[in-house]
Amino acid sequence: MASKITIKAPSSTANLGPGFDVFGLAIDAFYDTITLTKIKKGIIIITNDKIPTNPQNNTAGLVIKNMKKKFKIKDGIEIKIKKGIPAGFGMGSSAASAAATAVAFDKLFELKLDENTLVEFAGSGEKASAGTIHYDNVAASVLGGFVIVKTDPLNVIRIDPPTNLRMCIAVPKIDVPKKKTKVSRGVIPKKIKLADSILNLSNAATIVSGFMKKDTKMIGNSIKDVIIEPARQHMIPGFIKVKENAIRAGALGVTISGAGPSVIAFSESSADLKKISLAMSRGFADANTKCQTIICKPSKGASK
Ligand code: HSE
Repeated sequence: MASKITIKAPSSTANLGPGFDVFGLAIDAFYDTITLTKIKKGIIIITNDKIPTNPQNNTAGLVIKNMKKKFKIKDGIEIKIKKGIPAGFGMGSSAASAAATAVAFDKLFELKLDENTLVEFAGSGEKASAGTIHYDNVAASVLGGFVIVKTDPLNVIRIDPPTNLRMCIAVPKIDVPKKKTKVSRGVIPKKIKLADSILNLSNAATIVSGFMKKDTKMIGNSIKDVIIEPARQHMIPGFIKVKENAIRAGALGVTISGAGPSVIAFSESSADLKKISLAMSRGFADANTKCQTIICKPSKGASK
């Protein structure tokens, strides 16, 4: 058995509009790299970023705690976290660390866990940052591609995205609350209208069809959410303008990436992706907000 392993996991976008907590897509924008080393005892976290290093408050630390307990592993673990994904911007940063950690631990101790179990352990780490467990980002980061999360019991379905699917992401340079996901989950309505639920369900079902048929237009045109996006958009300066601009520049669909504040536009590779990115930057600039834009593709899942 090896005593050390390194795994890299991709950033991800959750929800894709109407698929709140259900849809995830791994994206090749950024990666987190986790190196686990067996040590005598305890859990030690070393990182290049300003994230908590107490295992209980760190997504990777919590995954190790839970996996060590479940599989009665006595070895201590040093977790080296190289963060490449900006934390707190809706790019699945905490999830990528958790996903890479679960996959690394499985390999380090030759547990040969199935994909649903890996996602379950990775999801248990999300509690450290989001306050609750949700599997959309971790499932995408573990498996890659487009994922549908069915819960109770957990069953993750993976579909290969169309090869011409592209995303333009605008990451605004704003201060985000410490427990951003927890805060942005707090603004979601507790009750929703039946008509809104029908609209979101029809769009979500069409997104799944689009992935199955490899039809990027069908996916992009269905990125429409009338429940969560309206409740959260006030947390993103200039959101309406950014969205309008991207659509006008040729994006098929635009929404908040995960819990935000990044905004994601879905397009075909044949679209003018630079024009869309620039249009999104202008939208943020109108709200006196700088942003970083990234043009990206779907990614494969966590691997060596
Ligand atoms: N589905 C989650 C949310 C993703 O929107 O709160 C958080 O990264």
